[in-house]
Amino acid sequence: MKAVILCAGKGTRLYPVTLTMPKPLVPVANKALLTYAIDTLTGMGAAEIGLVVNSLDSPISERLGDGVDTVGVPLTYIAQENPRGLAHAVKLCEPFVGDEPFIVYLGDNIFQDSMQVLYTRFEETGASAALALTEVTNPQAFGIAELDGHNNIKRLVEKPKDPTSNLAIAGVYVFRPDIFDAIDHIKPSWRDELEITDAIQYLVEQGKTVMPYVVDGWWIDAGKPNAIVLANQLVLEQLPYSPPHENDDRIQGESTVSHRVEIGENTQIIDSVIRGPVTIGDNVIIRDSYVGPYTSIGDDVVIESSEIEHSIVMCCCTIKDISGRIDASLIAENVTVIRAQAKPVSHRLVLAANSLVQLP
Ligand code: G1P
Repeated sequence: MKAVILCAGKGTRLYPVTLTMPKPLVPVANKALLTYAIDTLTGMGAAEIGLVVNSLDSPISERLGDGVDTVGVPLTYIAQENPRGLAHAVKLCEPFVGDEPFIVYLGDNIFQDSMQVLYTRFEETGASAALALTEVTNPQAFGIAELDGHNNIKRLVEKPKDPTSNLAIAGVYVFRPDIFDAIDHIKPSWRDELEITDAIQYLVEQGKTVMPYVVDGWWIDAGKPNAIVLANQLVLEQLPYSPPHENDDRIQGESTVSHRVEIGENTQIIDSVIRGPVTIGDNVIIRDSYVGPYTSIGDDVVIESSEIEHSIVMCCCTIKDISGRIDASLIAENVTVIRAQAKPVSHRLVLAANSLVQLP
């Protein structure tokens, strides 16, 4: 079975992080967001994956290449240079998927559920399509599904003003090739996008069966900074138990490193306290510091005389001599956060558009 991941969005809600890094490569627990989608899809049985990207020549293809050596599954890149909605992206996949059923996965979504049951049930029932759904408290912000008494979907509405259901369409769909014909029959929505929800509603109107599947556990649409930090927390929460680090050359001086802490190669933890779940990359130096739960630290980071928790620090950052604990933060690559060394002892900021600085 083939699958496609839609990741051509500009990621504007994650500016400034996504000004220099496409959203699918933003790390969650030190793994690119996109790799969670790939892992879920291969677990569901995908043998080939198409990635819809905004340019064939992007850091995504540079990083993942043909997929076989990097993520263990062949990848094909499909360009959507002028995004006109999710249905437009799906339509571009027609030559790639051919005439078999296929899965569509929204690239910035992460699920606790492995989704294997979704695909097995779709095959067993012979439905025309299947959708992952989850209960939400703000259905106006999503596509929503109304079910009939037989547990089939009777109506779908994109971003309803007066929702009649709290079951949101989460980011995984299974289709048969008749979805391409349905896409040809829809018109752009009020936001001038070809909505995949409208194409599925067209299938329903044609009398086709669309199977609902309510996902197990958490679902994060990781499009915004807070959602990325939350996804990081939920993924780290699933780190399996590993004992506290003792007799480990990487841990030096008066340090305490608790259970559930992953430490990369050539990393040094000196006179510091690390309280898991935490993941730390390669070539990191942590000195005289505290790293608290739900923190992911990328490669080549230096943290000295500082405290941080519940945060993501990407590769090559330096954090030194910061008073007060850094919390719930998303710090992109090559960022320096230091204390003024000379007078005037002032706040000096060099920030990109849409940066957020919150001082105590
Ligand atoms: C899209 C879909 C919507 C779905 C949501 C899930 O919305 O159009 O039906 O509920 O993804 O994240 P968008 O993120 O484009 O607003």
